[in-house]
Amino acid sequence: MVEIIRAENYEELGQIAGEQILRQVEEKRDSVLGLATGGTPRGIYRYLAEKKPDLSRVRTVNLDEYLGLSGGDPRSYHYYMKEYVWEPLEIGRENRLIPDGLCQDAEEECRRYEEQIRALGGIDLQLLGLGENGHIGFNEPGPAFVCDTHKVCLSPETRAANSRFFGSPEEVPRYALTMGIRTIMRARRILLVVSGGKKAKALQAIMGGGVTPQIPVTILLLHPRVTVAADAAALGGKF
Ligand code: PGA
Repeated sequence: MVEIIRAENYEELGQIAGEQILRQVEEKRDSVLGLATGGTPRGIYRYLAEKKPDLSRVRTVNLDEYLGLSGGDPRSYHYYMKEYVWEPLEIGRENRLIPDGLCQDAEEECRRYEEQIRALGGIDLQLLGLGENGHIGFNEPGPAFVCDTHKVCLSPETRAANSRFFGSPEEVPRYALTMGIRTIMRARRILLVVSGGKKAKALQAIMGGGVTPQIPVTILLLHPRVTVAADAAALGGKF
């Protein structure tokens, strides 16, 4: 069942999604939160930082990381998390889980990551952004869904979309590690946040289409508990 919540704009989207996360943590103080990076969640993290909730028992697990970037590189997701989430929200070091972008053996790192998530008892709430091409995490469109955390070759569209955080598309790493579709689908609850007209087409796919690996977000139609929070531009006049 997909529940859709409409926000007027980006700011309101941050408040609405932020409130969903706060409610989750009120219900379960030691929640395992699956977190996303990128432009869309920034408003959520800003909202949470203003509210100053007690997240001392929360464990955070990241969706993905670029391969080849160190945690000290300002373009890495590790750095993003430190800057916008872990430090402002005072998440303890022992409660921060993210794939290692500098790992020597990607396959081993993916296996280790899956085990770590399992050891935490799974994810209570997974926050997801949406790619213009319909990706979730870095699960790119393709002939089949990939189940577990894996190494992925980023699509030209994703590298172009993310070039705004780098100098140019060529500077965006070619590879990343991402939670797989099954890893995401095992989360007990999913919160998909979508902002802007560029995402309207991808969002449309889960509001009346079928499930296809060519538009990875459509897998969420099979999840029992999904909330989509989207702003007016992304909804494109719907709702
Ligand atoms: P964005 O990225 O929030 O920066 O638009 C979303 C995504 O690619 O998953």
